[in-house]
Amino acid sequence: MVYSRLSRRLRDTGYESFGDYLNWLESQPDGEEWQEFVNALTTNLTSFFREQHHFEILAQQLRSRPGQAWKLWCSAASTGEEPYSIIITALEALGSAPNFQLQASDIDSRVLEAAQQGVYRAESLKGMSSERLHRHFLRGTAGNAGMVRVKPELRRLVEFLQVNLIQDGWPFREPFDMVFCRNVMIYFDAATQRKVLERIHRVLKPGGLLFVGHAENFSDSRDLFTLKGKTVYERN
Ligand SMILES: C[S@@+](CC[C@H](N)C(=O)[O-])C[C@H]1O[C@@H](n2cnc3c(N)ncnc32)[C@H](O)[C@@H]1O
Repeated sequence: MVYSRLSRRLRDTGYESFGDYLNWLESQPDGEEWQEFVNALTTNLTSFFREQHHFEILAQQLRSRPGQAWKLWCSAASTGEEPYSIIITALEALGSAPNFQLQASDIDSRVLEAAQQGVYRAESLKGMSSERLHRHFLRGTAGNAGMVRVKPELRRLVEFLQVNLIQDGWPFREPFDMVFCRNVMIYFDAATQRKVLERIHRVLKPGGLLFVGHAENFSDSRDLFTLKGKTVYERN
């Protein structure tokens, strides 16, 4: 996998061997190629309303305290389907002017650009109700037929930023009510997962919720989080 993903970088930069490419990369610690290198290696698979039960829990939580101001972080947002699913859920649960702040981040600059554009193939919305479709998306016409765009008023409700989960110095000042960190920790070893969980613990309010992916299990960190339901943890 690494071979095939990096081969393209070699072609684009004109290097003939991995060794030469890596030597060049390491000789320029602040060089722009590092971002391309990271972008080439990330796996960005995602979809709208992936792991539907999380959005049902999110809606229940929001409805249970309708007057509250909410602050959420979607920490591996990929191409945007996940943060837009969160915002759609919030609008449906809280009404059209929700007191709801959502920050969405990823390490990969290319997927963040795509997320900000909010343009998707219409078939990626397959299974979404026509009411949701009409309310939140615009259909492309002529040259853009077969594509949809997230409505600008929805896009404006998400703040996109670049954050590396495994690097110190996350740019957050106020704690979050909920954090989505789904299907990314699976790529980290156990020690790294623990460090990331400790950092998430620091940026979540006590009692705040952490949503993780279907194959992720952090029961070993029960000093930090208590399992509340299928892949949903509460911050201790
Ligand atoms: C498989 S996708 C999951 C997307 C979404 N959370 C979901 O569940 O559908 C994993 C995402 O994590 C991002 N990622 C990988 N390592 C990361 C890191 N160290 N910090 C932040 N994001 C990272 C990748 O760029 C990718 O977009």
